[in-house]
Amino acid sequence: MKKILVTGGLGFIGSHTVVELQNAGFKVVIIDDLSNTSINVLENIANITGTKPEFHQLDLRIKSDVTSFFKNIIIDGIIHFAAFKAVGESVQKPLDYYENNIGSLVYLLQEMKNRNLDNFIFSSSCTVYGQADELPITENAPTKSAESPYGNTKQVGEEIIKESCKAYNLNAIALRYFNPIGGHESIKIGELPLGIPQNLIPFITQTAAGIRKELSVFGDDYDTIDGTAVRDYIHVVDLAKAHIAALQRLINKKNKANFEFFNVGTGKGSSVLEVIKSFEKVSGKSLNYKIVGKREGDITAAYADTTKANKELNWKTEKSLEEALESAWKWQLKQE
Ligand code: UD1
Repeated sequence: MKKILVTGGLGFIGSHTVVELQNAGFKVVIIDDLSNTSINVLENIANITGTKPEFHQLDLRIKSDVTSFFKNIIIDGIIHFAAFKAVGESVQKPLDYYENNIGSLVYLLQEMKNRNLDNFIFSSSCTVYGQADELPITENAPTKSAESPYGNTKQVGEEIIKESCKAYNLNAIALRYFNPIGGHESIKIGELPLGIPQNLIPFITQTAAGIRKELSVFGDDYDTIDGTAVRDYIHVVDLAKAHIAALQRLINKKNKANFEFFNVGTGKGSSVLEVIKSFEKVSGKSLNYKIVGKREGDITAAYADTTKANKELNWKTEKSLEEALESAWKWQLKQE
């Protein structure tokens, strides 16, 4: 049985990926510092899969702790989720973002190099493309200078991995996520935003649940189908499965270069108003919203060309926007 280390394995995407890893027959070791999640997620994963993953509470910024942890462990691959992810906060606290997102990555890669470990999957983001000149976005689209320190940690992170793969003969895949939403069908794990949600879907579900008064729709004069911004919303379970496909590619030595990157989206763009309409349909709720000014740093439209991931990873999305929104809504109802 192959053993996989999942950093940030109790977070939103991490927890869903742990479930899919266990379903696919992998043994999982989780490290998480619990800074943006709850230890209860571990029990909830065990409830879904029937197996409680090994868990270590560990802060990847503390190098001596990272080194001690790796002394005692043999693993076949690492999926690295642990990172800060709030765009706005990253502008306020850039050094915290560089310390956590870059520092931890460097320590992990050093351990891999020193201990001859291989097979690394990195959580990257479509944010590396900025506003792409052509849609849908292929992996050939150039990366653009980052709009935020958060975005920069993803770009620089990819560079660090690429250079390390070359220098130390490691193998890695960066998955460039579009907009992950929804939750597991069991409603046992989902997104747990702390405080006021910055992302669209948790804000919508909290507004529908009466926790927030109204949703602000950021801008209605974009050059899109209805003037609101367009994104590619992918069900988190589909996204989780892309990690398994990428990992299997590395373990089975099917990768075509030391460092590869793939877009992980649905290929379909939806505007904010389209998302609201779909949400109203699946929830039966009418959503309180108003149009306000654009949010600084937002782009007009981003959706993936998924040809490369479909072909090379032998992976494709299976779930619709409606299914994703329905699962997000069911999860919200359970939180009350
Ligand atoms: C962005 C980044 C993504 C990053 C994520 C982390 C891009 C293309 N994407 O996602 O890489 O991981 O931040 O947070 O750069 N909206 C509203 N009202 C709200 C909230 C959002 O109208 O209250 C709109 C936004 O303007 C946007 C869409 O909803 O058009 C989605 O926003 P959000 O969920 O925050 O994700 P992105 O900004 O696309």
